[in-house]
Amino acid sequence: MPKLTINGIEVEVEKGTTVLQACEMIGIEVPRFCYHEKLAIVANCRMCLVEQKGAPKPVPSCHSLCVDNMEIETDTPAVRQARQSVMEFMLANHPLDCPICDQGGECDLQDQAFAYGYDRGRFHESKRAVVNKEFGPLIKTVMTRCIHCTRCIRFGEDIAGVPQLGLVGRGEDAEVSTFVGEAINSELSGNMVDVCPVGALTNKPYAFTARSWELTKTDSIDVLDAVGSAIRIDSRDGKVMRVLPNRNEDINEVWISDKTRHACDGLSVNRITEPHIRVKGKLKPVSWDKAFKTIADKLSGLDGKQMAALAGNQADCESILALKDLMTAYDCPNLDCRIDGADYDVSERCGYIMNTPILQIEQADAILLVGTFLRHEATMINARIRKAWFKRKIPIGVIGDADLDYTYPVTALGNDASVLEDLAKGKGDFAKVLAASGKAMIIVGAGALARKDGAAIQSVCRVIAEKYGMLDKAWNGFNVLQTAAARVGALDLGFVPQKGGKGFADIVKQCHKGAVSFLYLLGVDNTDLTRKELGDDAFVVYQGTHFDYGAELADVVLPGAAYSEKTATYINTEGRPQRTHAAVKPPEQAKEDWKIIRALSGIVDKTLPYNAIEELWERLIKQLPQVKEMGKIVMPPWKEFGKKGNVDKTPFTPVFDNYYQTCPISRASLVMAQCQEQFGPPVKPVKAAGKGGKK
Ligand code: SF4
Ligand code: SF4
Ligand code: FES
Repeated sequence: MPKLTINGIEVEVEKGTTVLQACEMIGIEVPRFCYHEKLAIVANCRMCLVEQKGAPKPVPSCHSLCVDNMEIETDTPAVRQARQSVMEFMLANHPLDCPICDQGGECDLQDQAFAYGYDRGRFHESKRAVVNKEFGPLIKTVMTRCIHCTRCIRFGEDIAGVPQLGLVGRGEDAEVSTFVGEAINSELSGNMVDVCPVGALTNKPYAFTARSWELTKTDSIDVLDAVGSAIRIDSRDGKVMRVLPNRNEDINEVWISDKTRHACDGLSVNRITEPHIRVKGKLKPVSWDKAFKTIADKLSGLDGKQMAALAGNQADCESILALKDLMTAYDCPNLDCRIDGADYDVSERCGYIMNTPILQIEQADAILLVGTFLRHEATMINARIRKAWFKRKIPIGVIGDADLDYTYPVTALGNDASVLEDLAKGKGDFAKVLAASGKAMIIVGAGALARKDGAAIQSVCRVIAEKYGMLDKAWNGFNVLQTAAARVGALDLGFVPQKGGKGFADIVKQCHKGAVSFLYLLGVDNTDLTRKELGDDAFVVYQGTHFDYGAELADVVLPGAAYSEKTATYINTEGRPQRTHAAVKPPEQAKEDWKIIRALSGIVDKTLPYNAIEELWERLIKQLPQVKEMGKIVMPPWKEFGKKGNVDKTPFTPVFDNYYQTCPISRASLVMAQCQEQFGPPVKPVKAAGKGGKK
């Protein structure tokens, strides 16, 4: 390990560490523009110059590797002079329009100009002006502010896998641009705004709405998919203004998907702000008392078997537990959270979570994707797979639609489940790849499991994992990818048919027949259910956030809180418990979801034994000990699961035909609608007369 001195301090670092990284390790700040810890090093801005003993001139610290006996000085007159000169050149063409620049207050150039800039310039020539580019609905450009650091280009090429940006022209004519003037079509494009150190690329929907110092910042997690990315919610005057990524190296590193970032305008559109009951086919606002009394009247005299409850994709663990407790008080066995119709074996936890933590994907040496298009279903996991491929060019096989752009090359193995059976028998070239690998992994998506032969597919995938040695003490390569933030928590809590109970499809049939006459929908929006399918006699209560598909079905609508308005527990697809934190209050009369169920339980004389969230958390931990420590994965033991059966040859289809509008929040979002219009396929007509787009 090389030993060197920096400003007289002796440091010992790992081989391969750069001088800039060594400075950071001992708390010495070095200014930089082009260097970004997650991107390739290009050393083109020269802002990080330091003095190295013996070198004839200052050296770029981001590009200089630490070697033994190196002597570095970061704060000498020569270094300061060098940085001031770089800054002077940088500002020669920079417009310095900070008062009208959205980067103001969080701009690297502003900060460093404050530290190293002269108070006057020596350039009197006209500044160059660059025509702005049209990069689509998410990125606003003011290209005259670009300092040509190329971070955005490197992000597109290396991380997002969409090499659309480049530096065109030379010298004074150099410009960052897409090659043929097209918009940036990546579900990670918002991160280009984050990596841009200046106001050349800014968040278009957020343009001119707030200044960074006016915002209240709340750390939270995303629930628009099942990955649970770490986010920061910036709010002002009770309104969510923007969502930014937080660092979590285990999950999303420092990136988030465009849906996570840009669907936040949907949090204040089309919201259910007060209780409603349906009168002559129309929803009419009523008081909480009236809504609860209507439900209580309907419940009185009903047997538990005549009731059913479904938990939706963004329901939190607290409300799922409260709803299960309430239904159990009625001896109601008809519970389900698999509203996509999946009916595979969920008796063992290892059979429905990702057993390979996201961080470990980087170690995989072969990956088999089954019926999943991760770019849309779990964007951050796809980015991690791309990272693994980018570093080591690992083989990735796809059983599914291999014509889609996964952002890494894939081997097309076929598009139906019979390929799995062949692999289980050791047939095919990819069988040899799996056999030769030491850390292979298989990811089975909802597209493969939410179908009639889902249980058989789950079983054959388990056989493949066992056959190809994907399971040992330090490695478990069997993974089920969930797409709903609520799903693992609900399955852990056993929100599935109880003894003698019915599952999702049968509950719908029983409603139609009249055998089930009370149905509670906890945030259930992502189904193609119609009122006709449920029948006229079923009394439906919907508790949720938006007037979306669920509210269309309901006789009583109760206004719940969105993830940005409550402190609530979710368990991500890896089985990692995490909590959202309330950034703003629920709108008007809306309430945290568990409180609604607790209040209803009192009205119907089945009072639940918790009055405060802390008491509910105690009960949650008793039910799920893995929730005790937030952020920690408790790996389940490997056990037998799955139901053997025949797989059929129906091709796998992607879960989402419209990436941008997959939940009530994103369907209410104007920004997501613009993205869908520009980048998505045409929206197909929907079965339910819902508000918003297709599920
Ligand atoms: Fe000012 Fe920074 Fe914007 Fe340039 S990029 S105008 S320095 S805030
Ligand atoms: Fe760098 Fe921003 Fe210019 Fe891209 S647009 S090269 S990130 S300054
Ligand atoms: Fe080192 Fe740009 S940060 S040259």
